[in-house]
Amino acid sequence: MTADHTDTAATDGGTETTDGADDLALDPWGSSTVSDYRKLFEEFGIESFEDVLGDVPTPHYLMRRAIIFGHRDYRRVLAAMRDDEPFAALSGFMPTGDPHIGHKMVFDEIIWHQEQGGDATALIADLEAHAARALSWAEIDEHTKDYLLSLLALGFDPEAGTLYRQSTNREVQDLAFELGIEANFSEFEGIYGFDGETDVSHMQSVVTQMADILSPQLDEPKPTVVPVGPDQDPHVRFARDLAARTRYFGVTEAFASFEVDDEDERALLARAYDALRDPDTDEPVRCVAAADWLADADLTDADGDARDRVVEKLEAAGKEPLRPRVRFLDRNATDEAFEALIDAVAGEKRVFEGHVDSFEMDRDAAEDLAREVEVAHGGYGFVPPSSIYHRFMTGLTGGKMSSSIPASHISLLDDPEEGYDKVKAATTGGRTSAEEQRELGGEPDDCPVYELYAYLLASDDDEFAERVYEECREGERLCGDCKEQAATLMEEFLAEHQEKRAEVEERLEAADIELESPRRR
Ligand code: TRP
Ligand code: SF4
Repeated sequence: MTADHTDTAATDGGTETTDGADDLALDPWGSSTVSDYRKLFEEFGIESFEDVLGDVPTPHYLMRRAIIFGHRDYRRVLAAMRDDEPFAALSGFMPTGDPHIGHKMVFDEIIWHQEQGGDATALIADLEAHAARALSWAEIDEHTKDYLLSLLALGFDPEAGTLYRQSTNREVQDLAFELGIEANFSEFEGIYGFDGETDVSHMQSVVTQMADILSPQLDEPKPTVVPVGPDQDPHVRFARDLAARTRYFGVTEAFASFEVDDEDERALLARAYDALRDPDTDEPVRCVAAADWLADADLTDADGDARDRVVEKLEAAGKEPLRPRVRFLDRNATDEAFEALIDAVAGEKRVFEGHVDSFEMDRDAAEDLAREVEVAHGGYGFVPPSSIYHRFMTGLTGGKMSSSIPASHISLLDDPEEGYDKVKAATTGGRTSAEEQRELGGEPDDCPVYELYAYLLASDDDEFAERVYEECREGERLCGDCKEQAATLMEEFLAEHQEKRAEVEERLEAADIELESPRRR
């Protein structure tokens, strides 16, 4: 990982290479190569989207086709969607070149969440483009308008949603400053590979992105999803960390007055409690008894170190009874806020130095209360942001899709005929001859043209996308005809899209975003 930038676009899905079958560094400014998406689950803890697909009310085709393949904590966004609670979706675009068909995926994802009732935000990462990619303000302005026209043409409602550019958003800059207090340089080194040569403004663009991601929660805390490519995952994880660091209170489960540090220890306490408790008599379970039970029980699946730690704590607690409870820890609260929390905890409770235990609240109610008191006392109460990740599109020429290689991608501003020509010239997953193709079938899984159908041209029509796939595999589809069909559809799409861009021009002028930066350099 390096802090340098290369020529690739980032959230846009424009950065896959198939060679470089390598290491798995997720670098927001490098050329991300993801050779094996499954590794992202194991190594970075991204969850498979398939697991939540069933809970999505009316999934977008990018979800149905597993082009959106992963997520972090998206369940909380889905729960809000289902329960008609507020939620938000936000993504950002560096205006470094023309918007292309990779960006369209992200535009569509934002728009879909807006249609599901979310607060939708699209932001122009102009500070990042200026600092990390050295674009001039004049170039930035030109591209900014192009991104926004395409976003509106694809269906974003600027009256219902929010548009902004980083450079003129004072609230975001203020939040970035506050979040910067929670972040230090060692973390920048560890997460992004920044070093002594890294520009300070590049670092500032990182805290700005953290603020972007949390900004939908400035009016009230709410689940927020960030649709991006997996190269942005380091930013998402960092934003989740920073959000947690600003919180006034931590909420955990506990069984006795002493602190337990981790989930393994808590799970062991729960097992001892469940094993020893007699629901008929409700006799107290003493800590020493739990210590003896844990020391002797056959717990081969448990972490031995955690067990030793718990046994030691239980022995020290002696005759104190074990009792499940939720614990509120004072993290960054003011004295006043901590006092207010203590007052607000309903039912039986015990107050300690730095924490308060409640014996009658459940965990969710405790989380809600902690957030409520925090917000009432001037805190943000941030909900950890969620994310969804889409696959990168393969370039039309086979390697990576890159903004700097025009033949590798289709810009949303390409002349329709040029788009037609690029598709006709694309690499395919076909065989060397028509005979061979009929005999063996093509390889749609390795075909950039098939990707065009799946990611864009088949649009909502799953049956059509599947037909292309099957016909190809069965050898019923030959590449020449297949490309002709795709090229024609691309030409139509571009013509229609560009017409819509012209139509939304006035709407964009009326929207609440500065299209021209006062900055010059
Ligand atoms: N860093 C993103 C990119 O490389 C742009 C961006 C800025 C962004 N702020 C964001 C993306 C917030 C998602 C959410 O393109
Ligand atoms: Fe690709 Fe179409 Fe050829 Fe199949 S028939 S390999 S999908 S171009």
